[in-house]
Amino acid sequence: MDAKERTAVSRIKSTALAAKVTSATDAAAVIRPGDTVAISGFASAGTPKAVIPALAKRIHEVRGQGANFTINLLTGASVSSETERALAEVDGIALRMPYQSEPTARRKINEGRMDYVDIHLSHVAQQVWEGYYGNVDVAIVEVAGITETGDLIPAASIGNNKTWLDVADRIILEVNSWVPSAMEGMHDVYYGTALPPNRTPLNITHVADRIGQPTFRVDPAKVVAVVETNVADSASTLTDPDDVSLAIAGHVLDFFEHEVKAGRLPADTLLPLQAGIGNVANAVLGGLDRGGYRNMTCYSEVIQDSMLRLIKDGAVAHASATSLALSEKGLAELTDNIDFYREHITLRPQEISNHPELVRRLGIIAMNGMLEADIYGNVNSTHVMGTKIMNGIGGSGDFARNGYLSMFLSPSTAKGGAISSIVPMVPHVDHTEHDVQVLVTEQGLADLRGLSPRKRSRVIVDRCAHPDYQGLLHDYIARAQDQPNVGHTPHLLGEAFSFHERFTTTGSMAR
Ligand code: COA
Repeated sequence: MDAKERTAVSRIKSTALAAKVTSATDAAAVIRPGDTVAISGFASAGTPKAVIPALAKRIHEVRGQGANFTINLLTGASVSSETERALAEVDGIALRMPYQSEPTARRKINEGRMDYVDIHLSHVAQQVWEGYYGNVDVAIVEVAGITETGDLIPAASIGNNKTWLDVADRIILEVNSWVPSAMEGMHDVYYGTALPPNRTPLNITHVADRIGQPTFRVDPAKVVAVVETNVADSASTLTDPDDVSLAIAGHVLDFFEHEVKAGRLPADTLLPLQAGIGNVANAVLGGLDRGGYRNMTCYSEVIQDSMLRLIKDGAVAHASATSLALSEKGLAELTDNIDFYREHITLRPQEISNHPELVRRLGIIAMNGMLEADIYGNVNSTHVMGTKIMNGIGGSGDFARNGYLSMFLSPSTAKGGAISSIVPMVPHVDHTEHDVQVLVTEQGLADLRGLSPRKRSRVIVDRCAHPDYQGLLHDYIARAQDQPNVGHTPHLLGEAFSFHERFTTTGSMAR
């Protein structure tokens, strides 16, 4: 098929780019050992489907011949597990940035076999422009189509794609005809960001405001290959909310009602919501229709299934994010009703969806997961036992630091009750006590606003710790506060540091 014939039958309407259609194997061949490769994808959605598996195969073959072949891999956030795993399994990644959540990659990072730079998602674009990661050699970006003028219609996530297309030397496009073409128009790609001292205000004062354009621009001379695919995004797996998630959601919803009564939140609409990924976040959002709220808004990173239902019911008027992290059922709901959802959803680059200026201005209610919190409100979201990475900070810090209300949610115990999520001192701090206003577990909710460290410690243990650990924690607080010259934030430092060792040495925390 020549380029002209292809524009008639495919989603590639630009003859110049249709002439560059090739196979995934040939496209992968342009990637060289040592390249920095930036790919699309944010929470699975929009991950390129064809070229990375072909690259992983090539790396495997090259290794079989005794040669080394690694790349540095930059993304929006997590990408599909298949993609992450394919490259991690063949030891194909030398450096990974900025977020992952896949077990093989996690293991390699924790074994010291893969470098990992875990940074705030809103920082990625600016750090890449500044050159912190060197030259970006190749970008692989999935799109929904290419217009006659050569502009790119984004797929189900935007992430850092605008930046990758701007900075990469060589570009591979994957045009995925599975992405509903009616998604066109859902995206708002802003080209006005600049580095200091040339920054100007971002003109978004309401969640639905649009400041950009629906397509990406690309220099056609940089496009070295176009690959056609027709593959569904990997669906995120969500389970029905369990009792723990429902209890956490119940405490959050009671708190909102309390804040409305106190005049600190608008009665019908609350303030724009941000919720992390996962079952707890999904359960909290899913429970919101209980409150009788109407025309709420959401300014977040990802849109999960529960958001679609809230939009459909009129509880949410508009949701802004950078990615659609939907289950199979959610994907079907979206695609079956895409004309409706297009009017209620805006997808933006992650430097805008997570922008501190906007998070502060819009007054966002930030709700994120955590591994553990300490008795003073410092939160560890990333490092199990202080050393082993779980996923990464993701966007949680972008929202927590700048939100109107900053909430962290978690079950009160992990590993079947063997570990307490409330500890004397977190062994790794992602969110300091200054950025944490509310902690919630299935046991209850601790509102830390206006409380000194000593008062915080009692409220956190009384409201959030599991009863099996409350005695131990209260004993710690009493002994820490009963010392001479205890200071502002009393600790028994030797004991605090060894608290986690109870788990490593005995297999479960001594209660
Ligand atoms: N110690 C050891 N392991 C713990 C733990 C603790 N204190 N707390 C949780 N875990 C383990 C769980 O056992 C579970 O392990 P498994 O996968 O082997 O079963 C895993 O961590 C996930 O915990 P879970 O309770 O299922 O919660 P989750 O899926 O909501 O994830 C985080 C919690 C903290 C890992 C997750 O929210 C995260 O990665 N956050 C950082 C990024 C972020 O906030 N992104 C959103 C920004 S928009």
